[in-house]
Amino acid sequence: MLNNDNNNNNFQLVNEKNTFINIKNELSETDKPVIITSALPYANGEIHIGHISSTYLPADIFTRFLRISKQQVYHVCASDDFGTPIIIKAEKENKRPEEFVAYWNKRDIEDFSAIGISFDKFFQTSSKENQDFVQNVFDKLVINGHIYEKEVIQFYCDFDKKFLPDRYVIGICPYCKSDDQYSDLCEKCGRVPEEILDPKCGICGKPPIKKSSNHYFFKLSNFSHELKEWLNSNNNLQPDVKNYVLYWVNEGLQDWDITRDLEWGISIPLEEAKGKVFYGWFDNHLCYISTFNTLLKERFKVSGKDIWNNSIIYHFIGKDIIYHHFLFLPAIRMGINREYKLPDYIPVRGHLMLHNKKLSKSRNWYISLKDFISKFNPDFLRFYLATISPSNQDDINFDWDVFYSKINNELIDNIGNFINRTLSFTKKNFNGIVPEPCIYDQDDKNAIESIMDISKNSGKFLLNTETDKALKYILKFSNFFNQYFQKKQPWKNKDTSSTTLYISINAVRTLAILLAPFIPNSAEKIWLQLTNNKSNLWEQSWNGSSILRIEPGHRIGKNSPIFKKIEKIEIEKEKIKLGKNG
Ligand code: 2FM
Ligand code: ZN
Repeated sequence: MLNNDNNNNNFQLVNEKNTFINIKNELSETDKPVIITSALPYANGEIHIGHISSTYLPADIFTRFLRISKQQVYHVCASDDFGTPIIIKAEKENKRPEEFVAYWNKRDIEDFSAIGISFDKFFQTSSKENQDFVQNVFDKLVINGHIYEKEVIQFYCDFDKKFLPDRYVIGICPYCKSDDQYSDLCEKCGRVPEEILDPKCGICGKPPIKKSSNHYFFKLSNFSHELKEWLNSNNNLQPDVKNYVLYWVNEGLQDWDITRDLEWGISIPLEEAKGKVFYGWFDNHLCYISTFNTLLKERFKVSGKDIWNNSIIYHFIGKDIIYHHFLFLPAIRMGINREYKLPDYIPVRGHLMLHNKKLSKSRNWYISLKDFISKFNPDFLRFYLATISPSNQDDINFDWDVFYSKINNELIDNIGNFINRTLSFTKKNFNGIVPEPCIYDQDDKNAIESIMDISKNSGKFLLNTETDKALKYILKFSNFFNQYFQKKQPWKNKDTSSTTLYISINAVRTLAILLAPFIPNSAEKIWLQLTNNKSNLWEQSWNGSSILRIEPGHRIGKNSPIFKKIEKIEIEKEKIKLGKNG
């Protein structure tokens, strides 16, 4: 039996039982819990692949990676239940807003779970827990002197007899002069306009009139200095994002109107504010905290605050909501004396384009998640998006032809092929029993070394939320093993085939663990075929993927190809369908 004494490789090889031990763990793990939040989807429409790519998939891969690295991790999210669009849509469907958002909350949970987005809790901003929490935060902001009352002139549609907050007024952005922008957010320059130019009612298109109303303002301007300090001292924030947020702060921050004259919303807890509610952007990010607190209470019967403050906090977002997460969110936490700590990381990802055009629900230029997974393996979407998503805010492009070739050529021809040939060869030639290895030559040693190194090499990228780079490493690993198998020709070389297969089977085991965060359902299938259902994949550890743990004599399970190739015709159909919309 080979051991490591006769070469200079830096791995430790076998003990008596042919088990590899003592792998050096270079993953810089910390003992602190990690809290991950994904931006809250509005409860008024279906999740599409753009949401998945910018937020939920990066957050889920990271969460699953940490879980399998045996880190204490919590991934929380909720439906964002308030806002004018929700009220108007509910009215159109003749539903009460509560009923309407409950439908979307349930539907979101179904869609997310179909694609394997694994939240520890998916809550609602309209939950009692969040309402209480938000009112409590507001009370503290009042006590701390960060809230003032002011009479404001609001847009009001005399035709629809409604105040027209936010998205229901469309006009020209006063900063960058782009037209057709919402009054609460310019999608072109990312700023929140103080007053939109040339306003029109979003319901009937008529110019609105102005009416006065008493509103509450959060003194965002009070926090300019503290925000700058925080931005400058937090080295985990993406530098380009940080720079233009700093630019906004230097331009001067406007105080923030947190009131809406609506019935549906969290009511402002003041006698004189009857009939007024909070603006959705005041309460939604607070729901990150209230959801976490509720989870901890339900799961461990403890309050979440201490754990929140002793954790590393990640807020995953798309680039359209930078302003809110880099300014409003931290300022409100500062306003309650940082009773809950500020984020450590805010991974910001770009938009997903569809065949190089911006997604648009109204122009039917999008792919709903439900539609996608009714036709294709959900892991295919996860794999494709993970390979093309950089860890920055650059936009990426979904293209049916690229999807087709990535899945068929990279996932199936590379990974699927190696797994399938290894398992079926073992079945056929060794009766499904892992053979005892014999002589190890230099190729075998290199192969073992790559198993030893892979978790460290890909893990450091994942730890840095560089999903695409980690996956590239894993693809390289699988490609290396295809070449190894090909070179060793176990079908010809009977004397070395047992070593080849012993090492290859362990490489399949490594792949199952490494792929688990990316394509969880397929990874479980690999695991089942490999282990014959002896243990749960999720009980394994990321670092343990760098160990040859499947021992000679182990009987593998029933095997069949893990993936089914996509037919060209399936892609052509999707392209024709898209062509009709474009
Ligand atoms: O832009 C959106 O879709 C919002 N619903 C995101 C909210 S994230 C928040 F909770 F901070
Ligand atoms: Zn109108």
